[in-house]
Amino acid sequence: MVLSLQSLFGALIFILPAYIANAVPVVLGGGTPIDLGRKFKDGTRIFGDGKTIRGFLVGVLGGAVAGYVLGLILPGTAYAFFASASMPFASAPLQYALCGLLLGFGTMLGDLAGSFIKRRLKMERGQSSIIMDQLFFMFFALAFALPLMPTNIYTFENIAFLVCVTYIAHIGSNFVANRLGLKKVPW
Ligand code: CTP
Ligand code: MG
Repeated sequence: MVLSLQSLFGALIFILPAYIANAVPVVLGGGTPIDLGRKFKDGTRIFGDGKTIRGFLVGVLGGAVAGYVLGLILPGTAYAFFASASMPFASAPLQYALCGLLLGFGTMLGDLAGSFIKRRLKMERGQSSIIMDQLFFMFFALAFALPLMPTNIYTFENIAFLVCVTYIAHIGSNFVANRLGLKKVPW
């Protein structure tokens, strides 16, 4: 197994639009909930008030915009993950934007799936669960971007690294949110 720093960093850059998509709704989300207030068979909300239509849309859009920005920066660097020759359309940023769109869409679907399961487990809105809050969005994002993912990024070591980074980021962000008074407990 060859652990390459460049490869790990490359994986982190590739997945960046998913992190952005996950974060944007916290700031720009809100409004009408996706489940329109409806309950599932078990009498608990389908997704809950934390999953809104606007949040979903700005998340997907945030992923696409992040991808587009990467497409302006990465071509010509060691971290360009699309060779210009493999480009199905003329402009590089559009290919990166499409990738960001898929990552953003996967992220928001994974986020919904996570909340769906949390509600079935009778977990309150905002109650934290590493698996549902962090790993669902990551794996959904990776699954959706798979058709565009270069094979050198899709390695076991890289995916394991991303899971670790996501875990640490989760703990770090909860700690910061606690210090800022946004969250009562630091986990
Ligand atoms: N958000 C949103 N729409 C979404 C996702 C998130 O408006 N589709 C906003 C909501 O204000 C939400 C916040 O981002 O409260 C944080 O998102 P998240 O942690 O995913 O939701 P929680 O409120 O923790 O709810 P859940 O327990 O269902 O995860
Ligand atoms: Mg949450």
